[in-house]
Amino acid sequence: MARKIGMLTGGGDAPGLNAVIRGIVVNGIKSGYEVHGFIDGWAGVLNANAKKLTLDDVEDIHRQGGTIIGTSRTPIFPKAGKDNVDRSDEAVASLKKLDLHALIVIGGDDTQGEADRLFKDKRFPHVIGVPKTIDNDLKATDYTFGFNTAVEIGTQAMDRLHTTAWSHHRVMIVEIMGRHAGWMALEVGMAGGAHVILIPEVKFDMNEVYEVIKKRYEDGKGYTMIAVAEGIEETSESKETDAFGNVKLGGVCETLQERVQEWLVENMEKPYPEFKFEARSVRLGHLQRGGAPTAFDRILGTRLGVQAVELVKSETWGHMVSLQGTEIKAVKLEDAVGGYKIVPEGRYEEARRFLGL
Ligand code: F6P
Repeated sequence: MARKIGMLTGGGDAPGLNAVIRGIVVNGIKSGYEVHGFIDGWAGVLNANAKKLTLDDVEDIHRQGGTIIGTSRTPIFPKAGKDNVDRSDEAVASLKKLDLHALIVIGGDDTQGEADRLFKDKRFPHVIGVPKTIDNDLKATDYTFGFNTAVEIGTQAMDRLHTTAWSHHRVMIVEIMGRHAGWMALEVGMAGGAHVILIPEVKFDMNEVYEVIKKRYEDGKGYTMIAVAEGIEETSESKETDAFGNVKLGGVCETLQERVQEWLVENMEKPYPEFKFEARSVRLGHLQRGGAPTAFDRILGTRLGVQAVELVKSETWGHMVSLQGTEIKAVKLEDAVGGYKIVPEGRYEEARRFLGL
């Protein structure tokens, strides 16, 4: 009888997930395994809700966004400050009931954290990780799939917002996803020609932002584009958190818009009463996670899926496939979790040279 591989996708979806699923199913079946997808992440494990996947099920899905097996932010181990229920016994019982040989866990820091704990507590150690997040903040991998697509979507949005901001001589504040790290805001800001880029890793003073706006008006440039990461400060009005204890972010662009608008009235409209000065804001939010993946993410996802099955074959348990340069390598799950890969100072400094111009 064929050995069974189970897989799940956890956390926020990311374009490229279906390419990973296809990679696992194709390489898994061609290598003689049965492949089962748990429905809605760890929730599917807890409910023993899995679907056997065939080659037909995954035909062409690498071109689609989302995940055909669904996702959720469901923990199996207790979380500090949250409901403290330990459901790992249920999860292990379900994995054993399905007689799985291996579990491939596709997700970001929270999801891989559960995988690492499962591996370490030895009740079901046959665990392999695949890194995923549009935020690109997972440690021990150079890039995560989904990031490239999200940056492309953000850049297209910036390009469109440039022309309307320019036509109306406005300050346009564009909020970009990225909870713990500013990778997306940095790259969207660079590619999309932002005049100000605000990310959590770099402290900023609003007076510097006002200086850029003022100088651009005085130089006759007439408009300013600001790219801001949603995570610059956890000022979400509701302090609502998800099941892993992450604060639900979003809305910092509106706060900034109000502040900039007040400053514009006070400092620009008074000296130049013949002009109207306006700030507007746009929150890109989940638009950045939706739709078809770029070619880069389709290929990266496919390679990660294929190599995850290779780790199952070589029984390299407790490891995650990872992009290092152009190669896919195995790293320990514990090296990827607990903490984030944030933007190094040097990367921001490269972008800083172009700000305000
Ligand atoms: O972690 C990926 C991410 O898209 C973050 O950038 C964002 O803060 C979060 O997920 C949003 O999560 P949700 O879809 O649960 O609102």
